[in-house]
Amino acid sequence: MTFEHVKIGNDIDLYFGDNLEVMRSVKPPIDTLIADHPYKMNTSGGGKFRAERSNLEDITAAGLDGHFDIEVYHYAMKLGCLSLVCFFNWQQEATISAFFNHGHFFRNSLNFWDKTNASPMCNGAYQSHVEYFRHGWREGFRMKNRPLGDMKKVFTSANGKSEFDHPTVKPIDLMCKIVRNASHRGQLVIDPYMGTGSTGVACVQLGRRFVGIEHNRKFFDIAVGRLTEAFEAQQNEKQFYYIDGCDRWLTPIEVRSYKKFDYKLMSEDPDHNTIYRGGVSNASSE
Ligand SMILES: C[S@@+](CC[C@H](N)C(=O)[O-])C[C@H]1O[C@@H](n2cnc3c(N)ncnc32)[C@H](O)[C@@H]1O
Repeated sequence: MTFEHVKIGNDIDLYFGDNLEVMRSVKPPIDTLIADHPYKMNTSGGGKFRAERSNLEDITAAGLDGHFDIEVYHYAMKLGCLSLVCFFNWQQEATISAFFNHGHFFRNSLNFWDKTNASPMCNGAYQSHVEYFRHGWREGFRMKNRPLGDMKKVFTSANGKSEFDHPTVKPIDLMCKIVRNASHRGQLVIDPYMGTGSTGVACVQLGRRFVGIEHNRKFFDIAVGRLTEAFEAQQNEKQFYYIDGCDRWLTPIEVRSYKKFDYKLMSEDPDHNTIYRGGVSNASSE
């Protein structure tokens, strides 16, 4: 075992090390895997517009263009993963399509992230303003009807200028949509290519447990900082609850203390939280 473990609160476990090595040792009981891989891709070229695309240099410098494999998916499926999302680009399309259509999943959907601030240039080809992500789910994963805005296959969002010194940081609004669609409250989401922890921040904000794995020290340390901040913010954030018919604003810590005294959480939709004493419920609106 050559990896390192950082725990934040009860529900966030971050590992510094190789993803497969960590997964094989820890064997987390995964509900959902969300993977933002490095892509194997050609970062040369760009012609006269090359200077506008300096993030290609950053991608190469961080070693994010040289390797792509999907072994972690196969291993996650062995660990019980029911719902899997991955990003990819056109050079991985055949591999991803074969994996998703190979009988692993009950249903799957090819989706797109449309970057509203992509470079306004094509250089003799189509503009590269979209990134692909695919979501597959097995029988047993409850894909609930959600607001139509969340269920659209094209998600529109700006590619945030990185404050986190990583060339491919994903925007939080995009990751929140993906986490909401691909998992339920209280479930365990793993991101084996954590980078600076964007998936984890979305998980914390949406009440999912999170395991993140990253093998680059600089990115790992940034993720620890972001996840600690997200966790602390979430601890102080109050949500609206009905308790035995009365309205209250409660922090997650206060909710946990109600649960200890035989109160049950009826619904975890932030707009319709209900806590009542006794009874049986594990209902969740997500
Ligand atoms: C595309 S980036 C993820 C960026 C992330 N979504 C974010 O918003 O910051 C992929 C990350 O996977 C990491 N990585 C690549 N191979 C890995 C491996 N075998 N084990 C753990 N991490 C790995 C890279 O260092 C890189 O930070």
